[in-house]
Amino acid sequence: MKWTSSLAGLASLFTLGKPSFLNSASYKRAQMQLVAAQADSTPVEDAETGITFQSFTNEVDVTYRLALPADASAEKPYDVILQVISPITNGWVAWAWGGSMTYNPLTVVWANGNDAQYSSRQALGYYTPAMYEDATYTVLKGTGSNATHFKLTALCTGCASWPDFDGNVMTLDGASQVNFAYAYSTTPVDEPANQESTFSIHDSVGHWTHDLAAARSDKFSSWVAANKVNTTTYRRPVRIGRFEY
Ligand code: HEM
Repeated sequence: MKWTSSLAGLASLFTLGKPSFLNSASYKRAQMQLVAAQADSTPVEDAETGITFQSFTNEVDVTYRLALPADASAEKPYDVILQVISPITNGWVAWAWGGSMTYNPLTVVWANGNDAQYSSRQALGYYTPAMYEDATYTVLKGTGSNATHFKLTALCTGCASWPDFDGNVMTLDGASQVNFAYAYSTTPVDEPANQESTFSIHDSVGHWTHDLAAARSDKFSSWVAANKVNTTTYRRPVRIGRFEY
């Protein structure tokens, strides 16, 4: 029997009431496990980018959003579009892609003036996470800070895949639901303009289940293309003719 149909069978059993072969405590536990199997994310269209994300908001109003390519699965690495939105009262907020603090990619985000800064990290123990170079980010439209919030939208290569202790790359199953972890602090980072800034320990951490399968879309590439930021317009003057770029 396939896992999905056995789950459906189990679910229909519970809609009929407590089966006679379970005592009340086991029934309650089994019901709770079924509830826990539901994802915490829901679909949301972000007005600024036109991207439809699977979105989760935690107890302090920090929102974590994901969009994936249509064929994302555990078979091969894939890029993701992530979006993090936080009240400005947070000094930093973070996303742990493996669902725990250590040995997985961490995306840390904070406000930097009118901009939002991201920092790619990996914790090698329960102390300030180190810089992590195996995840690369391209900042997209829908990134900045105002009086109330900071918001990062980015394409990430290497957020959904990372090497395990044996060096084998494992990839989050894009066709399934996955557990992530978050952390946040109201204490500002030491140097907001510096991606390598130090920062102090979280006020709190937590976990959620994200529906990756539902985050997949065949519009993924067009969303990336439509939200590319033209870095040449503010990094260097655009030249005409031979040096045009
Ligand atoms: C200066 C930075 C940080 C310090 C000093 C720090 C320190 C710690 C400590 C001491 C614990 C408790 C470990 C225990 O249960 O005994 C912990 C747990 C945890 N931290 Fe951090 N942390 C930092 C940054 C982060 C970041 C950026 C994340 C990203 C989401 C994170 C996610 C977690 C999570 C999810 C836990 C729960 C236990 C686990 O998953 O292993 N931490 N941290």
